[in-house]
Amino acid sequence: MKVLVTGGAGFIGSNFIRYFLKSHPDSSILNLDKLTYAGNLENLAELQTALNYRFVRCDVADAAQVEQIVQERFDAIVHFAAETHVDRSIAGGREFVQTNVLGTFTMLDAARRHRVPRFLHVGTDEVYGSMKPGEFAREDSAIEPNSPYAASKAGADLLARSFWQTYQYPVITTRCSNNYGPYQFPEKLIPLMIANAIEGKKLPVYGDGLNERDWIFVEDHCRALDRVLEAGLPGELYNIGYGQPVANIEIIRKLLRLLDRSDDLIEYVKDRPGHDRRYALGTERIQREVGWAPAVDIDEGLKRTVEWYRGNSGWMARVCGGEYQAYYEKHYTRRGETLAAL
Ligand code: NAD
Ligand code: DAU
Repeated sequence: MKVLVTGGAGFIGSNFIRYFLKSHPDSSILNLDKLTYAGNLENLAELQTALNYRFVRCDVADAAQVEQIVQERFDAIVHFAAETHVDRSIAGGREFVQTNVLGTFTMLDAARRHRVPRFLHVGTDEVYGSMKPGEFAREDSAIEPNSPYAASKAGADLLARSFWQTYQYPVITTRCSNNYGPYQFPEKLIPLMIANAIEGKKLPVYGDGLNERDWIFVEDHCRALDRVLEAGLPGELYNIGYGQPVANIEIIRKLLRLLDRSDDLIEYVKDRPGHDRRYALGTERIQREVGWAPAVDIDEGLKRTVEWYRGNSGWMARVCGGEYQAYYEKHYTRRGETLAAL
């Protein structure tokens, strides 16, 4: 299988590429990524010389460059590229609309015209909005996005839906809950708390810390996407989650115990505006129709995650220092430069 992955230099995309090429060594991947602050080629350093992996720097909203890339024949597109951090979307949402809405449209449009036979659009459970206690979102639940990030992802989902309804273009959408694991950028809750705790800094907990998220280990998400690519039905929508929402403060206490640090590091701070109280997903459809179920529970997943960050302090220091970005500006700035090497 020849696959085009967008956003493969980010957290989930890089984990997916590694997982996919390991599970399907006869396949090849072209990783298309703009290399924003969240894109880091070091996440895939071990693949740099692999014959079945290539990289191109490209913005998914750049129709001309996307056209040039997609016209090369692919068996599938897996679309991760997005602006992803809720707090950044609250500070300013323009990039979110540009990449998540226009970028998704640009990818879908090129893929349809070039008849790429499978398009997997990676979505989020945030589009359902906040769940009441005991409530779990199903694929037919209403979408009620509450942050500019969630709204832009909902827009992308609706475009994907329209491509199936209007053109019968075989797009599949997944909506996953909060991921955690190796290579996650330290602006999201779990890696930020690990980084701060290791350095003995305070851990900022928004509001009362009782907001709940349905944490899933990134490898479980990657395995689900692989299964959906193989067995998912065109035009279909699949929720992906662990199925057991946990309060933020509980996650933070677990991390402090794993890192042998005191709860005194916890600091309650001003709440995030529009902060969703609870995300919870019903995942019966993917379990029944695709034959996937999560395998890594939260204690095992957090243990593996903490071990990874402890063993990769160099990665964390380089990410926080931002040196990798200066390198990209030097080596990948000119448009077409990397395309010519394809
Ligand atoms: P991330 O922020 O770690 O990585 C995003 C990647 O997309 C980066 O490599 C970045 O350079 C790239 N990118 C951004 N704008 C681009 C553009 N205009 N053109 C090309 N590339 C661009 O994100 P992540 O956490 O790995 O999330 C990946 C996808 O999964 C996103 O679509 C996100 O909405 C979705 N998702 C994430 C989670 C989660 O918990 N992290 C949960 C459910 C769904
Ligand atoms: O649900 C899936 C979504 O999960 C993805 O689509 C998003 O891309 C991803 O960023 C994530 O969104 P959240 O807003 O849930 O994740 P975040 O890690 O930013 O926050 C998780 C919870 O922790 C949330 O309730 C806010 C809280 N939090 C977060 C940070 C960064 C804190 O209490 N303190 C913090 O410093």
